This record gives sequence, C-alpha cells and structure tokens, in this order.
Amino acid sequence: MLHDGSLQTPNSNRQAWNRLVDVYSDCQECSLHKTRHTVVMGEGYAPSSILIIGEAPGHDEDWSGRPFQGRSGKLLRKFIAEAGITDRFITNVLACRPPDNRTPMDHEIQACLPRLMATIHIVEPRVILLVGKTAVHSLFYNSDMKTARRKARLLKYRCDGKSRAIPTTACYHPAYILRNPDEMDDFRLDLRFAVELLT
Ligand code: URA
Repeated sequence: MLHDGSLQTPNSNRQAWNRLVDVYSDCQECSLHKTRHTVVMGEGYAPSSILIIGEAPGHDEDWSGRPFQGRSGKLLRKFIAEAGITDRFITNVLACRPPDNRTPMDHEIQACLPRLMATIHIVEPRVILLVGKTAVHSLFYNSDMKTARRKARLLKYRCDGKSRAIPTTACYHPAYILRNPDEMDDFRLDLRFAVELLT
C-alpha cells in the first residue's frame, strides 16, 4: 500500500511527483517490500526552500504513510517551525520501514537512492538538511556527523540528464536528541545554520 504523501505545489512539479509516486507505489527493489505496510514517499512543498532527509520510516510512519510522525518526528517538526522553516519537504533515505527499525543496510540504501534523487529533482530545494548519521553516510560517503554539522557542502547529483549542486548540511537525529537532551541547544543551532544557508 502507498500513501502518496501530500504535495503542496503551485505548478507542474505535481505531475512529476504523481509519476514518481506511481513508479514506487509497489516498489520491490529490495526485500523491505515484504515487511512494509506503506511506501512513505515524503510530504511538503515543491519547490521548497529546504529538503529534510531522515533515515527511514518507523512504526508510526509505516502505518500513517507520512514521514516523521512519532515522538522524534514531533520534536523535529517543532524545531523546524521554531526555526521559521515553512516551505519544506520531508523524506527519508529509505521509503520503507526496516523490520524492528534496524539500521538500513547498504544495499537497501543503494536500491532507494534513485527514488531519493528523483525526489530532490522534483522538490528543487535551495538547501538540504541531512538528519542523523544514516542520511550523512548515505549521501556523503565515509563522512561522520562531526564533519557534516554546521558546515555547508555541495551535494552534486544528476537526474533526467541535468546536473545540480545543492548546499547541504546536517543535524543530529531527533531520536538521539530525545536520548541526550543536553544536545538540544546544539540541535537548535544546527537548524538555524541550515536556515542561514538560504540567505
Ligand atoms: N525517523 C526517521 O529518520 N524518519 C522518520 O520518518 C521517522 C523516524
């Protein structure tokens, strides 16, 4: 089953999005299709100022079809709103929930990468925010959080024959912040840094 996510768009990005949703509605590129309930494509604005990329759907996301719905999602959405980010799109490195929320495997990340790249292409973000170390590892190979937070690096990609480079930064995963509330202020600063990249 697929929840098409809600796309708020004033223009033809909608057609491209609907096509993408169609393509992935019954995706079987990796074995996660056997255990998932919903393909979680993402939701938000296209075009958008900031594209937020998390790790993978968890239980609540798998059942609702919407990214970042659980406790950590509530925290992320609260801080995004506080940082004044309104026109954003939220998705994940994986569109399907790994069993028991285990860490995504490399082959699953590779299998889902074309969907993520096509999402970036449609959302046309001015800035990308990678949420947590899986997103950082997946898009900036061999990088750790230390080298990715509060720095802007260019994420280069090709899609539909076009090349682009988008300023990209990172923050801790909100699940980590919930376990380490002392890092809350740093989390806030990371989000603020992402917003500053827009100016
Ligand atoms: N964690 C993520 O990384 N993504 C979600 O959508 C939910 C929890």
